[in-house]
Amino acid sequence: METRIRDVVSSLEINVDDVRMIGIKGMGGIGKTTLARAVFDQISFQFEGKSFVENVREESKPFLSGLKSLQKQVLSDILNDQGVTVSGVLDGKNKIKKTMRARKVLIVLDDVDNTNQLEALAGDPNWFKSGSRIIITSRDEQVLVAHRVSLIYNVNLLSDTEAICLFSRYAFGKEIPVQGYKELSEEVVEYAAGLPLTATVLGSLLCGQDESEWKDAIKRLQTIPLKATMEKLELSFDGLEDDHKEIFLDVACILKGWGKEDAIRVLESLGFRATYGLKVLEQKSQYNL
Ligand SMILES: Nc1ncnc2c1ncn2[C@@H]1O[C@H](COP(=O)(O)OP(=O)(O)O)[C@@H](O)[C@H]1O
Ligand SMILES: [Mg+2]
Repeated sequence: METRIRDVVSSLEINVDDVRMIGIKGMGGIGKTTLARAVFDQISFQFEGKSFVENVREESKPFLSGLKSLQKQVLSDILNDQGVTVSGVLDGKNKIKKTMRARKVLIVLDDVDNTNQLEALAGDPNWFKSGSRIIITSRDEQVLVAHRVSLIYNVNLLSDTEAICLFSRYAFGKEIPVQGYKELSEEVVEYAAGLPLTATVLGSLLCGQDESEWKDAIKRLQTIPLKATMEKLELSFDGLEDDHKEIFLDVACILKGWGKEDAIRVLESLGFRATYGLKVLEQKSQYNL
């Protein structure tokens, strides 16, 4: 994590007096938002205005009003004024241009999936004052390329050591497995397939469980190899919204047999809208808990 933060911060070249848009790309659950947030927290004090716009993909959905309220959010953050009004997307663009030209800003646009969103929020480098930096995270490299971001940072899967560390933090509250759980942890982490999301879900689930429950979980995980399931999901569940895909992935691969209440509790503690997601999946008859 520290290395990732350092890499992104150095590629931003904050001391260079131009405008940069850089991208962070990677699949859902790989840690884009976490990385962008860490970078933002570390460097935002060096800017005259800052805004972290989370979840652009979901928030911009009610198409026009969604984009408009994201524009309002950026303006309010940068101006530190909740009274900003935006009458439409075009008005929003004009106001953003005018505002950004006057101050050096740091903006994160998190989880963007369409160039419309970028057009509305950070249409062109010449909207911004020199020294400004815009960080855009996306699952879709094409969106970043189409917007001509100058550099794309690719978030990689965790190494085995990193995955054990992260898993252990959630399972045991420290970075290495407690005595007697080393081999079991290694076995479980294999099924996390290098994804921080799955490492944290599995760690949370197994936290406080006894050895027999761990063995039981491993047995269930063996029946549905996560890597294969992930590949299958790419092929057959394209019709599902991404967040539902993620939930489905967790539920199908990891939580099978844990009981609906527990599954929902864990998913929601990790920030998913699980109750809703599971309902959609049930309606589509793709999963029955
Ligand atoms: N480097 C990390 N250290 C600790 N937890 C992480 C790390 N990266 C991701 N996570 C956890 O993994 C989950 C998914 O990460 P997130 O940043 O939301 O992924 P993405 O935005 O790519 O979908 C979150 O629960 C987050 O807390
Ligand atoms: Mg994210």
